[in-house]
Amino acid sequence: MMKTLPAVLLISAASFLAPATLLSAQPSPARCNVSTKDFRLSGGNVTYAFGVNACGELQQVYWGGRLADNDKLPPARRNREMASFDTPYTTTPQEYAGWGEGLFVEPALKITFADGNRDLVLHYDSSTEKPNGLDVVLKDITKQIYVTLHYSIDPQTGILARSATIENRESDPVTIEQAAAAAWALPHGNYTLNYLTGRWAGEYNLTQEPLQHGARVIESRRGSTGHQANPWFAIQSGSPDENSGEVWFGALGWSGSWRIVVEQDQLDAVRITGGFNPFDFGYVLKPGEKLETPTFYGGYSAHGLGGASRLLHSFENHNILPRTAKTAGQPTPKPRPVIYNSWEATEFRVTEGGQIALAEKAAALGIDRFVMDDGWFGQRKTDNAGLGDWYVNKEKFPNGLKPLIDKVHSLGMDFGLWVEPEMVNPDSDLYRAHPDWVLNFPGRPRTEARQQLVLNLARTDVRDYVYGFLDKLLNENDIAFLKWDYNRNWSEPGWDQLPPAEQKKVYVAFTQNLYGILAELRKRHPNVEIESCSGGGGRVDLGILRYTDEVWPSDNTDPFDRLTIQDGFSYAYTPQVMMAWVTDSPHWLNKRTTSLSYRMLSSMQGSLGIGADISKWTADDGALAKRLIKAYHEVQPTIVQGDLYRLISPRNGSEFSATQTVNHEKSQSVVFAFVHSTQEGRGFPVLKLKGLDPAAQYTLTAIEGKANPREPTTATGAYWMNHGLELDDNFRGDFQASAFRLDRK
Ligand code: GLA
Repeated sequence: MMKTLPAVLLISAASFLAPATLLSAQPSPARCNVSTKDFRLSGGNVTYAFGVNACGELQQVYWGGRLADNDKLPPARRNREMASFDTPYTTTPQEYAGWGEGLFVEPALKITFADGNRDLVLHYDSSTEKPNGLDVVLKDITKQIYVTLHYSIDPQTGILARSATIENRESDPVTIEQAAAAAWALPHGNYTLNYLTGRWAGEYNLTQEPLQHGARVIESRRGSTGHQANPWFAIQSGSPDENSGEVWFGALGWSGSWRIVVEQDQLDAVRITGGFNPFDFGYVLKPGEKLETPTFYGGYSAHGLGGASRLLHSFENHNILPRTAKTAGQPTPKPRPVIYNSWEATEFRVTEGGQIALAEKAAALGIDRFVMDDGWFGQRKTDNAGLGDWYVNKEKFPNGLKPLIDKVHSLGMDFGLWVEPEMVNPDSDLYRAHPDWVLNFPGRPRTEARQQLVLNLARTDVRDYVYGFLDKLLNENDIAFLKWDYNRNWSEPGWDQLPPAEQKKVYVAFTQNLYGILAELRKRHPNVEIESCSGGGGRVDLGILRYTDEVWPSDNTDPFDRLTIQDGFSYAYTPQVMMAWVTDSPHWLNKRTTSLSYRMLSSMQGSLGIGADISKWTADDGALAKRLIKAYHEVQPTIVQGDLYRLISPRNGSEFSATQTVNHEKSQSVVFAFVHSTQEGRGFPVLKLKGLDPAAQYTLTAIEGKANPREPTTATGAYWMNHGLELDDNFRGDFQASAFRLDRK
């Protein structure tokens, strides 16, 4: 539930000389005698305030529930010197602290100058108002280093977007060794830190731990976002709670190596600093050059972790995800087409006849989009050859892709295709012609993973090649969708075209070129939609989601494992982008046997797809899937773009789990309930629903499964929320699933 309040920006300035006694017991250095200024951003139910203290430092003053515009906040005031070991520069919560003057917490910016100086002290210089925000310029106290901090606040959700532009106006180059997008500070308190960890086939595990003194580092050093940690955090006051309590959360929009440091210092202050990963970083900024950091988004909710994720989901749908030409100007993107993907059915054994046979079966189920996965190009028979050679394999498709695409269209579906543009197999024509195009250190081994190497997308020639083949593919074929894969991390990240001191620019330029290619493709092919996949969920972040319509959360399609993966995923990302396929049973990974109904409902929690070998399905399987796809289509907007309530978590070996979504009009709600494994005869807990209009009447309809026959079919929102929804007493056993819809009368 969100009130739409306008975004408000207040700037006040008062020029006065601060009495030194207010600042510190120590004599104040001369540079502290400057005017103060306050900035305040309000949007949704949030206010964020910061100001210039009397020393010229930009410091956070407040971040929390929305204040009245005429509420006065105490002005920014530098912390006093607690001890000679705790000097004000390090204890004052600066918005963007340079590493200098004895800073012991995580710096936002660390620079080495040409003369060997490494002291950087950023003071307020100027500010400019912008729509829903402002730019604040900081400058080093002696050097011509300017940092423009960009701030904006979303009027609906109160989510802030912060980033920095670093500019060298010195006459010599400087090396940036560390650059954050932003630093956030929290009031003193007892907190729980929530973050997401994982691995291939086991992404998005929610980790919850008390925040303690020291630093918790969440990062990727891999050149891309990574499966192992995701650039999202949520810090809750007190213990974790879905429904109540203050939560501060953030997500970094960067698909290269990244780092978020959450630290509680010796005086209990909490700071969160995030941006480029400083590991192996070194960005040479020549005179006149600028470096743009990624954007760090930050939000606040007084309604627990559930409230935080509902704000993020809404923000992503309204402000991050791209639109196609067909949805241009619409407040949110359209729900994803229900896809069929052939990967688990055929792996590399794709042929025109085989794909057409699958397409016919898929169309009969009511599928919207048919996607051909890996194996259609070059000499791609297994994963050890062909990547890089993006021509259609003539043995498999003698007449090109057109006959298959035409057939798919004639069956009433659109057509999608798998690509892995940034990779090359050494056994490929591309690598034979351009062995220098990959990330490498000359004279050193080139480490392969899945028999492939990473093309150095930072190079202009590689960028042009990748853009060129994709543009040609889309010009020559009627393709509605690309599944864009990325199946390994970096090794030997050398870029020998540049002088040695500049080669580490690869960490920035690679990702910038990736975004550039995606942006240009979307401009030239404005109806094409793109999925971000990286061996499952290895490249999901708010950076890539500006250019891609959906993501593949995990190669693990086991419907039981998926419940936990999807639960974790939903803390940071909207179900709109969460593709979820129904695949075969027993499952290839866990050898678990589950019913088709259970598999369907597990996938229907997100954006549904079918990835099974449907050529082997019985008529009953087909009829069940067809019925559930139809039922899904009817409620899909509520599931993927409504307000999500995680009623019972599947985590920590729970016997049960349940989710509920409510559309923004509160006219429809969808409930999913899963029994994992009944123990000691326990029945399913009564589900106290959330977010309904208490006075409205809602009619309950089963999509799959049964409610307790004693339940009314129509009752008020108050009934469903207070009395709750009772499920059928026989809803027990192993891997059982039910789904219901409630429609306002
Ligand atoms: C990755 C993807 C899979 C599939 C294969 C194809 O593992 O995550 O979905 O596309 O590549 O090689």
